[in-house]
Amino acid sequence: MSQMNTRVLLARRPADQMVAADFAVDTQPLGTVGEGQFMIKNRYLSLDAGFRQWMNEGSGDNYLASMPLGEPVQSIVLGDVVESRNADYPVGSIVMGRTAWEQYSIADGSDLMSILQPDDGIEVHEYLCSLGPSGMTAYFGIMDIGQPKQGDAFVINAAAGGIGCIAGQIAKAEGCTTVGIAGGSAKCDWLKDTLGYDQVIDYKAASSLEEQLQQATPNGIDIVYDNVGGSMLSTMLGHLAENSRIILCGAVSQYDKEGGHDAVGNMWELITKRARAEGFMFSDYIDRYPEAIDYITNMLKAGTLVSPVNWSEGIESTGQAFVDMLAGENFGKCLIRL
Ligand SMILES: NC(=O)c1ccc[n+]([C@@H]2O[C@H](COP(=O)([O-])OP(=O)(O)OC[C@H]3O[C@@H](n4cnc5c(N)ncnc54)[C@H](OP(=O)(O)O)[C@@H]3O)[C@@H](O)[C@H]2O)c1
Repeated sequence: MSQMNTRVLLARRPADQMVAADFAVDTQPLGTVGEGQFMIKNRYLSLDAGFRQWMNEGSGDNYLASMPLGEPVQSIVLGDVVESRNADYPVGSIVMGRTAWEQYSIADGSDLMSILQPDDGIEVHEYLCSLGPSGMTAYFGIMDIGQPKQGDAFVINAAAGGIGCIAGQIAKAEGCTTVGIAGGSAKCDWLKDTLGYDQVIDYKAASSLEEQLQQATPNGIDIVYDNVGGSMLSTMLGHLAENSRIILCGAVSQYDKEGGHDAVGNMWELITKRARAEGFMFSDYIDRYPEAIDYITNMLKAGTLVSPVNWSEGIESTGQAFVDMLAGENFGKCLIRL
């Protein structure tokens, strides 16, 4: 009997409240490796909130196409090349790239695919966390757009997530006073105790985000790292310091909106505060990854970076784990171990 491949498909377009039944697990015989292709036995799948956007009908844009129904859900994966007809990706290579939620992937070297040279003493899964897309996004957002200076007030939302937990620590290492925003008191305690945020804001608490921002940053925010968008971004823009920088990284509160994202308010503040808001995609920086990898590897080796993983086990767990992540149940970067 031929070898089988278990995959997780996008079964239907998620409604505003995504549920695990939006996905379906199926098992198919493994495909064959064509000329120029290679087969990856995936070790880990990375769950990335941004992919929720491209699960919507008609959501294709200049970055990715809308995911087709009935096909495996797109994902960044890390695994081992087990069969190859591509000389650049020999059997035994450890690779990372964008394929899908599946045990085995057939790839051709496109779609962010690269061979990893794991550093001794660094666990391989770290190349999907602080040394992978999450870490690259955190680092280049802060360094290039945030341009941190000693004493800057740095405020980030989704602060306990894959990007948030790395970004908060990099900003602190650059001399900022860090304020992490997350949902729930347990998560906020964890932000302070485990990730070392200077201050925390529970956006689900009784007192308003506005009041809590005023208290945490009485002189205004110098750097906003925005993963959430929508009304939370509007509130943060209403609280800027002069010459502030707004890193537009994601809009997780908006990915389930049918008919487009909500308008963002307080844009006038950008003018009077001489602020600069800039969006980016981590893949823009591919030529400069080594700079970020050096920086973050040094922090890991010095023991000055905590890189927490919210693990789930087995391909079948993937859909529910993604739903739980969007609901804010994750503490740290969500990975599936296959
Ligand atoms: N620009 C880029 O290149 C790039 C690359 C990767 C990811 N991103 C973006 O980075 C952001 C974080 O992605 P991630 O993969 O690291 O996910 P993550 O932060 O690990 O998980 C998403 C988190 O968002 C928070 N959240 C969900 N819905 C929310 C809402 N309505 N209001 C406020 N917070 C909400 C939840 O935490 P709490 O509610 O508990 O705080 C949840 O844990 C996403 O917006 C993603 O699109 C951008």
